[in-house]
Amino acid sequence: MTDATDTSGVGIAVLVGAQWGDEGKGKLVDLLAERAELVVRYQGGNNAGHTIVHAGETFAFHLIPSGVLHEGTTCALGNGVVIDAMVLRREVEGLLERGIDIGDRLVVSPHAHLIMPYHVALDEAREMAAIAGERTGHPSAGVGTPGKDSAAIGTTRRGIGPCYADKTARRGVRVEDLFDPEHLRSRLEIALSETNVLLAHYGHEGFSVDAVLDGAMAHADFFRRYVADVGLLIDRTAARGGGVLLEGAQGTLLDIDHGTYPFVTSSSPVAGGACAGSGIGPTRIDRVIGVAKAYATRVGAGPFPTELFDATGDQLVERGGEFGTTTGRRRRCGWIDLVALRRAARVNGLTELAITKLDVLSGFEHVGVCDRYELDGELLEEFPALAADLYRASAEIELLPGWSEDVSAARSLDELPAAARALLDRIEASVGVPVTFIGVGQDRAAVLELAATPA
Ligand code: IMP
Repeated sequence: MTDATDTSGVGIAVLVGAQWGDEGKGKLVDLLAERAELVVRYQGGNNAGHTIVHAGETFAFHLIPSGVLHEGTTCALGNGVVIDAMVLRREVEGLLERGIDIGDRLVVSPHAHLIMPYHVALDEAREMAAIAGERTGHPSAGVGTPGKDSAAIGTTRRGIGPCYADKTARRGVRVEDLFDPEHLRSRLEIALSETNVLLAHYGHEGFSVDAVLDGAMAHADFFRRYVADVGLLIDRTAARGGGVLLEGAQGTLLDIDHGTYPFVTSSSPVAGGACAGSGIGPTRIDRVIGVAKAYATRVGAGPFPTELFDATGDQLVERGGEFGTTTGRRRRCGWIDLVALRRAARVNGLTELAITKLDVLSGFEHVGVCDRYELDGELLEEFPALAADLYRASAEIELLPGWSEDVSAARSLDELPAAARALLDRIEASVGVPVTFIGVGQDRAAVLELAATPA
C-alpha cells in the first residue's frame, strides 16, 4: 500500500457494500461524487440510510444518492430502485429547507417501481405475524434454531419486499404509470385484487382502489419534472468524460441471490445489479469498489459467523455508534470476516477495497480477523456453497495486536500505528484486492486515499 498521488476521474465506477450493508458507503460516495457528474442508485429503496457529516451538519438520506451535497452533481434513481413517493418528496423538501435546491439535478427512471401503501402494510403485517408466531411457538414459525428457522426476516418494514415481489410478478406500479390515470387504475385493480386477500389473512383492512389512486396521483406532477432515461444519461455523461458513480445500497451478503437467503433484501446490491438496475452494460464499468468496515455488522436476522456476543461486541456497538440510520435498531457486531470478503471480491469482481471505520478499533488490546471457518473438523477457506453449512460452520478467530492511538487525524499511511497498518495489509493480502481508501473518522475529510497497487 502506498499513498495516492493520482486523484483523476472515476470513469464509470460501482460502489458496492461488501458485507451486510451499513459499511459507510455514503461517505465514500460523497467523496467520489466530487469527481463525478452523475451519481446513480440502482437498487433498494428507503430501506437504506446514509449519514453524512458535512460542514458540521449531519445529513441522513434514504433515497436520494449521497452525491446530492455537491452542487455540480446530478443524482439519479435507476429503474432498479423502488420509490416511496412521500419519502422522496420529503427528502427533496428537507434539502430545500436547508438551502439545497436539487432543482434540475434529480433524475428518476420512469421504469422504477413505486412502493405503495399496501406494500408497507403487507411488509409490516408479515413481520408482525412472524414475530407473534415465534413468541407463541406456533409451528409455522419454526421455533427452534434461532436465526436459521426464524420466520421474521427483521425487515425495515418499508414495503421493499412486497414491492419487488409485485415487480417480479408483473403486477407492480411504475413511475410512468402515474402519467396515465386510467392505466394506473387498472394496475391497481390487478394488484389490490390479490393484496387485499393477503392483508385480510393477516387481519388487516384492505385498500380501496380509489383511495390508493388518489394518493398516487397526487405525486404525478412531482415526478413529471424528473423522469428521464437514466441509462442514456449515464452513457452521455460517460462519453464526455463526466464520471459516473453507481451507488449500491445494502450489501453483497444481503443480495437476493448471493446473500444469506432468506435473510436478505429483495434486490441485487452486487455489482451485476448495477447494470440491470441502471441500464448500462457490464463492459462499460471501469472500477468496482467494495466497501467494508474494519470489523463487521449486521441488522436483522440471519447467519453472522463472526458475531461477538460478549463485552467486546458491546464495545464495538458503542464506539462504532452501531444503530441503524433507518430504523434505529442496534446492529449486531463482530470481527471482520475475510472468508466472506473473499467471496464478495469474487461475486462483485472488485477492483478495489475501501476499509471504513478503522478509528473504531482504536483502544482494543486485540483485533480479531477470521480467515477460515471450521466445519465438521475441517477448515474452510471459502464461504460454504450450501446455506445449511454456513449455519453449522464456526469462525476461526485470529487475534492480532491492537493499538491505542486515535487515528482520526491521520491523513497518510505513515501516520497510522504499525498495528493498524498490519491489519490493513492482512486484509489486502487475504482478500487479494488492493485497499485504496481507508476511513479513519466521521468527518468528510477523514479518508486516506491510496494508490491502487496490486495486492
Ligand atoms: P428489507 O430490505 O427491508 O426487506 O429487509 C431485509 C433485510 O435487509 C433485513 O435484515 C434488514 O435489516 C436488511 N437491510 C435492509 N436495508 C438495509 C441497510 O441499508 N443496511 C443494513 N441492512 C439492511
